[in-house]
Amino acid sequence: MFPAERPRRLRSSAAVRNLVAENRVDPQQLIQPLFVKEGNEDPRQIKGLPGVLQHNLETISAAVDEVLAAGVGGIMLFAIPTKRDASGSEACNPNGILNVAVRQVAAQVGDRAVVIADLCLDEFTDHGHCGVLAADGSVDNDATLTAYAAMAIELAKAGANMLGASGMMDGQVGFVRAALDEAGFKDVSILAYAAKYASAFYGPFRDAVESELQGDRKTYQQDPRNLRESLREIRLDAEEGADIVMVKPALAYLDVIREARLTVDIPVAAYIVSGEMAMLEAAAAAGLIERERAILEVLHSVKRAGADVICTYWAVEAASLLRSN
Ligand code: PBG
Repeated sequence: MFPAERPRRLRSSAAVRNLVAENRVDPQQLIQPLFVKEGNEDPRQIKGLPGVLQHNLETISAAVDEVLAAGVGGIMLFAIPTKRDASGSEACNPNGILNVAVRQVAAQVGDRAVVIADLCLDEFTDHGHCGVLAADGSVDNDATLTAYAAMAIELAKAGANMLGASGMMDGQVGFVRAALDEAGFKDVSILAYAAKYASAFYGPFRDAVESELQGDRKTYQQDPRNLRESLREIRLDAEEGADIVMVKPALAYLDVIREARLTVDIPVAAYIVSGEMAMLEAAAAAGLIERERAILEVLHSVKRAGADVICTYWAVEAASLLRSN
């Protein structure tokens, strides 16, 4: 008798396919990034990311309502200040735009979703780097840690549940953890951007935050040629007390997500970044691929690779696509 095995039986109807599906993306495990700009009169559409807006403090509250109504599990906040300086001092100003937005969103959300704030200086520095600079113009790792700790405490005071440590400075997770604990914020958790690559796929994000960066971030973000290095970064962040480790970007780094999942016993997150979204949206707009199917396919690919949590600009839309899928 040939063939003896007939795998097609389990694909013969939607019902049986749904019954045996190995992976499901749950809206509660999605994170929706949101951008807010100080003094923004009207929300601005970000180039290349259809539907992603640079909000003001009023319109962001409607966006937060949509996240809650969609049952999306987390909100990641990025803010663009009007004033930038060499040390990124607005990041530590309790009345700076990020802290104000966190306070407002945290009050609005309560315990219905996790409020995550980006813990990084790049939006606040006039040179656009993720840290402060030494006299020779290089990014000063240890001076940056002190700034991150101060920023972390302000964000915790403002009500952030979780901090996205995204700067790729050595020791940042341990340093920020100790500072939070000492200030009494033992329940504020750290989402460590453990394996963050120096990627061309951050292009549209630079527009979203109006980045001033000249040059690149290759002295702190990772070389795309490396995998083993990610495992080292992930191990270090886990040892330093990260609550969740993240891999970023996601789609070009599915192998890293896989290895991360096999390496640590804490949740693994992955961030489908702006350029990854923009590629799919551009191809769909050109009529080359079916947009909604492609979105669901990439989300499931990230899940299948091993991500427990997925950060994506499609979070709210995906929640409804997944429910009607
Ligand atoms: C830095 C940061 C970046 C992104 C998130 N946090 C940009 C960078 O490292 O240059 C990119 C996200 C995206 O492209 O969607 N704080």
